[in-house]
Amino acid sequence: MINADNETRETIRIPPEWERIEVGCLTGTIMVIGASDTGKSTFARYLFRRLAKHYPRVGFLDCDVGQSSLGLPTTLTLALTASATGDKPTENERLAYFVGAVSPRGHMLPVVVGAHKLQHRAQQWGVRALVVDTTGLVDAAAGGGALKQWKIELLSPSTVFAFVRGMELEHILWPRRRDPRVRVIELPVPKAVIERSRENRIFYRAERWRNYFAPAATLQLDLRRLAVFGLEAMTPGRLLALQDAEGFALGLGVVRRYDPHTQTAAICTPLPSLEGVVSIRLGSLRLDPETGQEIY
Ligand SMILES: Nc1ncnc2c1ncn2[C@@H]1O[C@H](COP(=O)(O)OP(=O)(O)OP(=O)(O)O)[C@@H](O)[C@H]1O
Ligand SMILES: [Mg+2]
Repeated sequence: MINADNETRETIRIPPEWERIEVGCLTGTIMVIGASDTGKSTFARYLFRRLAKHYPRVGFLDCDVGQSSLGLPTTLTLALTASATGDKPTENERLAYFVGAVSPRGHMLPVVVGAHKLQHRAQQWGVRALVVDTTGLVDAAAGGGALKQWKIELLSPSTVFAFVRGMELEHILWPRRRDPRVRVIELPVPKAVIERSRENRIFYRAERWRNYFAPAATLQLDLRRLAVFGLEAMTPGRLLALQDAEGFALGLGVVRRYDPHTQTAAICTPLPSLEGVVSIRLGSLRLDPETGQEIY
């Protein structure tokens, strides 16, 4: 279980249109979409807090593999609250799925497959409402329109909250407004939203990586005993996930050394042991676990 909660108590401005939302009418999967820097994650957390006061069991699915707020970058994370008064997900029911990249571009299949696996688990855990936060990739030319459209198709949300800025989302929303399967609620981008530069985003991730790998040690992997996905990417600096029997990530590691003759690898990971690890999946990202810097 990856535990990298970066939540702090935040002070936010709550627009009147947010207050008017009747949470009693919101059940099932609730998706939040919008381009980058439109306030999606802030709203998703706000909605989660309100829902957590209303229903005994609420889930939060963080599908933002870049600026993840709940889990680590490169992963999708599901967390639940079991407390009627809880205002953020508890630590005991949390699952992560490894995508291996900090953008869904070129990695859309693991994003949608992982989101579906986590949604299924949330349903098994009996959540009444599941808030799904998403990345800001909505650009049609970059495949963002297809990603959002197929994710809506697969996760079948009852409600989609859309942060509308100009025509950015029109290619996604236009058919959905007439789709009886989903209720689309369009909201303006709050004035309080602060834009983040590319450097800010890289800095944010570097901090998350440093914190995560701070307690790391070296573990030896016998690759003949594991299912290895993406062996061709096994090079020093490569990020990988240590996965359980169901394919969820128990922890992440960075390759130190790989010996193809003995089929062994040394990795840097904060995971204390390989207990429960049945497979590993190599990501596309490379990074220095000491500095947290991503290597391109
Ligand atoms: N209602 C609000 N009140 C105060 N600050 C806000 C509000 N909404 C957003 N912000 C601030 O604006 C910044 C961006 O907001 P947020 O992370 O929610 O946007 P996002 O759409 O999720 O961004 P990304 O595309 O990176 O995922 C954050 O620093 C956040 O604190
Ligand atoms: Mg966000």
